[in-house]
Amino acid sequence: MTNKYYSVKPVLDTKLRQVFIETYGCQMNVNDSEVVLAILQQSGYSLCNSIKEADLILINTCSIRDNAETRIWGRLDIFRLEKLRRKGIIVGILGCMAERLKDELLKHPAVDIVAGPDSYRELPSLLNDLTGGSKQINTMLSHEETYADISPVRMDKNGVSSFISIMRGCNNMCSYCVVPYVRGAERSRDPNSIVREAQDLFESGYREVTLLGQNVDSFHWADPDNPTNTVNFAQLLEMVALIDPKLRVRFSTSHPKDMGHAVLYTMAMYQNICNHIHLPVQSGSDAMLEKMNRKYTRAEYLDRVAMIHKILPECSISTDIIAGFSGETAADHEDTLSIMREVGYYTAFMFQYSERPNTKAARHYPDDIAPEVKNERLNEIIKLQNELSLASNIADLGKVVEVLVEGYSKRSKEELVGRTSQNKVCIFPAGEHKVGDYVMVKVETCSSATLKGTEVK
Ligand code: 5AD
Ligand code: SF4
Repeated sequence: MTNKYYSVKPVLDTKLRQVFIETYGCQMNVNDSEVVLAILQQSGYSLCNSIKEADLILINTCSIRDNAETRIWGRLDIFRLEKLRRKGIIVGILGCMAERLKDELLKHPAVDIVAGPDSYRELPSLLNDLTGGSKQINTMLSHEETYADISPVRMDKNGVSSFISIMRGCNNMCSYCVVPYVRGAERSRDPNSIVREAQDLFESGYREVTLLGQNVDSFHWADPDNPTNTVNFAQLLEMVALIDPKLRVRFSTSHPKDMGHAVLYTMAMYQNICNHIHLPVQSGSDAMLEKMNRKYTRAEYLDRVAMIHKILPECSISTDIIAGFSGETAADHEDTLSIMREVGYYTAFMFQYSERPNTKAARHYPDDIAPEVKNERLNEIIKLQNELSLASNIADLGKVVEVLVEGYSKRSKEELVGRTSQNKVCIFPAGEHKVGDYVMVKVETCSSATLKGTEVK
């Protein structure tokens, strides 16, 4: 397969038409924006840093919770003012909200183009067709699109760590979640294109890749020319890990119902596959898990955690938690707190349940937990997580950890910041080191958010 769009970093040229891209939501969206930049760069656009310089403003949106969408409507009002100030600029809405609210968005006076997550190849022609004066929309979802042949143009700041999408869509149908509706059916990308992308990143100086999918454990690719030749996630992980021992490999997200031994044994075999698993639990209550359609029980989840600890004793585990799902009782909430204590997550992403229109939960289960109760439960969850994060960091005091340097610390140019294999943030005096170096650091102090230490030679 030839690669028409190759160039790892943005080509900046103020003589070209300028595109500004604003991204909301998950890592997958960050990577999609990089695919979009690759496509636009190929058709004569150059990236710029502010809406004030832009000929084209793109906003890559998120629909996961109501407040994500509210923020985006607010931004559209700002873009509208910019359009009144500077005639002729174009505004396009991309991503999940474009898919979910197509027609409503098209009615907004600021919006010229609406393009869903599988339509980015069409952006140049949508832009072209705009010249006729009518607004343009393409929100077709695909069963095949993986953008495999497009090398994303990286917009990260550090030049050290980057995302690679290995699959798109989701088939899990958790009852609360809008993703299967806005990102379509699950499909896996050609593993050879994934390895090539990781290799290109390594050769351009990157030292860490995160393989992305809604459920990486169900990665499954069959060679179209020889369908008996298949690749699963454990095999893909190994293929990427073999590129170079100096390339760290991470992945996200693992689904507790699908995570198997093979992935853990592969992680154990390669020191460059990071010792970290993001394993969203959502709730500690069996009744809630059933209603959420998560397809595992609390006991099964805890079995997976025990298996991780057995095969990978140094592995850290993080999670996602939803507070106040339909019908959640005080006892269900206590179950969530107790599973958090039992697992001892080093970090967590914690949310109040937000009902999403047309999901199974919206159709069948009332959003019946009062906002104050949701808020109170979320605060309890956050407070407990802070304690668990601190305990997890205290357990690292005195250990020597390998840190991949990502940049300077916010406080001082004399200090570098990076991450450990366990994905913990670690700060230490810079010495002669620079971004992209691996440094062995002895952990001496910590807060709930960071480890601090000094280099050991
Ligand atoms: N309300 C609140 N949180 C949600 N998530 C997904 N859908 C919703 C929703 N409707 C959370 C889950 C998921 C993470 C990406 O977002 O915890 O793992
Ligand atoms: Fe990402 Fe999900 Fe938000 Fe879409 S809805 S941007 S997939 S978090």
